[in-house]
Amino acid sequence: MNGENAADGAGLTPKIAERILSSGADVITLGNHAWRRSELIPYVAKSDRVIRPANLSRLAPGHGLVSAPAPDGTPVAVLNLMGSLFMTVAVTPFEVVDELVSDARSHAAVVVVDFHAEATSEKVAMARWLDGRVTAVIGTHTHVQTADARVQPGGTAAITDAGMTGPHDSVIGVEGDIAIERMRSGLFVRFRPAEGDVRIEGVLVRCTAEGRATACEPIRVRI
Ligand SMILES: [Fe+2]
Repeated sequence: MNGENAADGAGLTPKIAERILSSGADVITLGNHAWRRSELIPYVAKSDRVIRPANLSRLAPGHGLVSAPAPDGTPVAVLNLMGSLFMTVAVTPFEVVDELVSDARSHAAVVVVDFHAEATSEKVAMARWLDGRVTAVIGTHTHVQTADARVQPGGTAAITDAGMTGPHDSVIGVEGDIAIERMRSGLFVRFRPAEGDVRIEGVLVRCTAEGRATACEPIRVRI
């Protein structure tokens, strides 16, 4: 799962990461808010289950690619990348993705990419570029689930954005009135996470042992 904003809507802490992992998640990916909580920095440096976008600075701690066993023992490689449109990255994701995918495939037949990006165009382009080489390209970051879950012709599942697990009676997780006030006035107003209409969102991908996707379904569950 992508957990970059699991700590009250801003970043992730080691304690929350441990709770998520002990709840059944195998790998946690991050994004543009990876370093919002300073206590996460040494934790990411040592963790083999919490990864950060691979195309951040080479001098940043942690890794962007990890291989972990699924519950049945199948090795699954997870690669985290960040988009370069409307976001700040050290290098574009396209510059590093091919080498990382080769590396991932040398460890695991099943390869999942979390592409944490703002622009739908960049996410669709990445999904097409990787078609036939990875199991799934799952977009994250916008908090709004898109209606394009699909399996592409080469056997790579894709969705432009998996959506948000959190309060949907909100402006992408923030109390609506506060977010609107900041947008209307341009003044700094401290964000508060909303509470209403909590939903779990994500995507269910089925695949063969060779890592070819056979189904890709969006998940939307009201709590
Ligand atoms: Fe993000």
